[in-house]
Amino acid sequence: MRKTKTALLIAASTTMPALLLSACGQTPTQGAASPSSGVVTITWYAGPITGTGVRSTLISKFEKSHPNIRVKLISAPTSTNTDRANLTAEISGGASTPDVFNGDVIWPAQFGHAHLALDLSHHLPKSFFNRFAPGLAAGASYKGQEYGAPLFMDAGFLYYRKDLLAKAHLPVPKTWSQLYQDSRILQQKKLVRYGYVWEGNSYEGLTCDWMEFMTDAGGKIFSNASLTHSVIDSAASLKALTFMRKLITSGVSPSSVTTFEEPQAMAVFDAGNSAFLRNWDYAWSNSNDPKVSKVVGKVGVAPLPTFSQSQYPGYSNIGGWDIYVNPHSQHISQDLTFIRWMTGTQAQTILATKYSEIPTNYAVQKNPAVRRVNPVLNIVSKVRLVPRPSGTPSYPKISQAIYTNINSALTGSISPTAALKKAQTQIDRAVSSNSL
Ligand code: GLC
Repeated sequence: MRKTKTALLIAASTTMPALLLSACGQTPTQGAASPSSGVVTITWYAGPITGTGVRSTLISKFEKSHPNIRVKLISAPTSTNTDRANLTAEISGGASTPDVFNGDVIWPAQFGHAHLALDLSHHLPKSFFNRFAPGLAAGASYKGQEYGAPLFMDAGFLYYRKDLLAKAHLPVPKTWSQLYQDSRILQQKKLVRYGYVWEGNSYEGLTCDWMEFMTDAGGKIFSNASLTHSVIDSAASLKALTFMRKLITSGVSPSSVTTFEEPQAMAVFDAGNSAFLRNWDYAWSNSNDPKVSKVVGKVGVAPLPTFSQSQYPGYSNIGGWDIYVNPHSQHISQDLTFIRWMTGTQAQTILATKYSEIPTNYAVQKNPAVRRVNPVLNIVSKVRLVPRPSGTPSYPKISQAIYTNINSALTGSISPTAALKKAQTQIDRAVSSNSL
């Protein structure tokens, strides 16, 4: 369902393994087993996920139940593009660390094809994959082999300020034009600085936001499942892009939204400076954590709006992260133990109940006690999901053609019409050369 390949985007640094290790105050030998104690330390490369301490919570619970395994965190950047660049450079260079790493759901084809991830199908029984919600194991596979264990699923949501809408007697927007109008009113009343913040930087996250706007307007990247010819340059895409640009030119979104990734959009919302936010499921727990947010208790979550009320809700892009094993790891058995635990009931319940993630473990996802405390999980069944076209080895180039050109139109450096034309030409070139 969601597959890709290669790290194209990226200027890779060959010195990265040493840099990453020293950044954590760790020397390369520390990853090795300590025969005297019988304790093995494995390294886990993972970004902050929710920005509120989820990694250390999981590590300490895991270590408690597995006294012979220590997990050393290597803190990864928040950007999926940078993560992919770092890992591709390290693992293709033969580094044996990190032992395990969090990787985007759009990576299995690249990592599987380029041998950057261990084929888990050869190390875990088939029955292991039955724990996942339908479709997720398929999404982590490439050519029939499983390269990742689904860790959490992501979907795009609308976060809104309940208190501001109530003050101005405004409804939660169901259409994009309603969101625009609500924003203008709240800004004119000087109740808030910005209306809407989202992910507009030139990177993978903009492709996600674009998939939502474009699909809802009736547009597509490809006309058929064989991904042979792009149809992104359409009237529907133009409608979507014109609206996105209007958000910026009107001041509903700050002009700096064209440099925002998830953390920047989140920070503006957490600081109380935007009425609406587009972000993934973790934004619920983040915006309700007093350590990082000034809007605790004032936040509501809903499906994304649509261009036409009759088709509410709009589309949400499918994201998420898997855990992969470095094929050069010296500690495969401990890595697999960690993966089993991270996708098991305890870890998945923590992710879902404390950090508002959508669990991949189906039993946890369906558990009424979990659903009661995770409002995002209750909405996800109502949203319309759209995947990125990541099943082809050319996906990184396809995505790059989308986000660079859409970003240029958002900044005003080229017109929406020219941006779509260029995007289509570049996607067609990527697909026809099947270049990695
Ligand atoms: C989230 C999603 C991931 C997506 C990324 C884009 O991390 O889970 O799938 O690629 O955002 O920034």
